[in-house]
Amino acid sequence: MDIYRIKGKKKLSGEVKISGAKNAALPVIVASLLAEGKTVLKNVPDLQDIRTIIKVIEVLGAETDFDKKKGTLTIEVGKIQNNEVPYELVKTMRASVYVMGPLLARTGEADVSLPGGCAIGERPVDIHLSGFEAMGAEISLEHGYIRATTDRLHGAEFTMPKVSVGATANLIMGAVLARGKTVLENCAMEPDVVDLGEFLIQMGAKIEGLGTERIEIQGVKKLRPVTYSIMPDRIEAGTFLLAGAITRGDVTITHAVPAHITALLTTLEEMGFNLEVEKDRVTIQSTRRLTGTIIKTLPHPGFPTDLQAPIMSLATTIPGISTITETIFENRFTHVPELRRMGADITIEGQVAIIRGIRTLSSAPVMMSDLRAGAALVLAALGAQGTTEIRRIYHADRGYEKLEEKLSSLGASIERVSGGKG
Ligand code: EPZ
Repeated sequence: MDIYRIKGKKKLSGEVKISGAKNAALPVIVASLLAEGKTVLKNVPDLQDIRTIIKVIEVLGAETDFDKKKGTLTIEVGKIQNNEVPYELVKTMRASVYVMGPLLARTGEADVSLPGGCAIGERPVDIHLSGFEAMGAEISLEHGYIRATTDRLHGAEFTMPKVSVGATANLIMGAVLARGKTVLENCAMEPDVVDLGEFLIQMGAKIEGLGTERIEIQGVKKLRPVTYSIMPDRIEAGTFLLAGAITRGDVTITHAVPAHITALLTTLEEMGFNLEVEKDRVTIQSTRRLTGTIIKTLPHPGFPTDLQAPIMSLATTIPGISTITETIFENRFTHVPELRRMGADITIEGQVAIIRGIRTLSSAPVMMSDLRAGAALVLAALGAQGTTEIRRIYHADRGYEKLEEKLSSLGASIERVSGGKG
């Protein structure tokens, strides 16, 4: 298995182009199943999760061609050939459950393996299921599969008991072809959901209220295939700003949407970093007045849980005390023991991490446990004294396109070495 070998303490500087957003591309790729014909998606990142979702739609009958260099994914959709997504695919990626909406909308039948637990928490799909039930689907659980059937989904009023990105996206995909009007309350306002909604609107869907808590969808009979460009990845954008911050460098992210990362930018300014924000670029520079901060993860526009681990690495090197509260997932501190091995001073009390800044982290062999915990370790290694070896880097491959290439172009000393022992 490949490992990363990172020699820390190199100040990163220069510009880095942000890729298309994984978490927007995943539902958009699945939503292409809603229209017969040829959909062309641009700015699609070449990531393991994207390859998995492509396999999922192929299982259902789509034909695809992914030009990885150009980031262009062509999807040819005819009749849906199959309603079942097997365990082998769902177990590698929970977002496979997104097919429920399009399958129910197109064929009235979906058999999707129930996702199991996951490294960051229990992550149930009960809200997706009760939403589809409200829209007229009958749902049962048999032999580890969710079996959902309906003559045709109908409009409904449904209030999500908890803000869920996945449930909001899935229910929107079901509602666009449903009979009548659907009103969804307590919706996720994440830019990824808005990107999906805008794609659907271009296809002919009638959706109002994207980016707010209340979304109204008037079902239509048919959608048409379109050409669409995926929005930039806000979590990748944040991760590269944090790479600039932890190395006290001077990094500019380009092709980004600064408005999507306002919570991060505010936090970095509070910590004392200088930010220059332009239309689609942000530059970060360090100052001598750095100080700890208080962070709480929340649904958008709050601080994103996907940047919680990465910013914790930064906080370990900032003078004073920082506290980070994780409110979205119950088990998202798996990076903490690894950061401690690198000398970080972190105490966990329930869902709160208390971090006392130290002068410098020091290298140690560490291991990724999930995608964002993995990003946190890469950042820690960039800021640490010595050479850090990071194992299980396949987690990072799920969500960061050309990570080592991009970091190297900013001056990092990072290499992927094959043959490490797991
Ligand atoms: C999406 O996951 C993202 N994944 C996650 O990014 C991200 O961390 C998360 O949203 C929160 O922003 C994708 O977009 C593919 P949720 P999702 O439904 O949709 C609970 C990454 O690293 N919940 O918003 O699965 C759930 O357990 C990944 O890129 C229910 O209780 O997250 C969690 O506590 C990791 N029942 C909370 O809601 C449900 O039916 C928010 O989860 C659904 C969710």
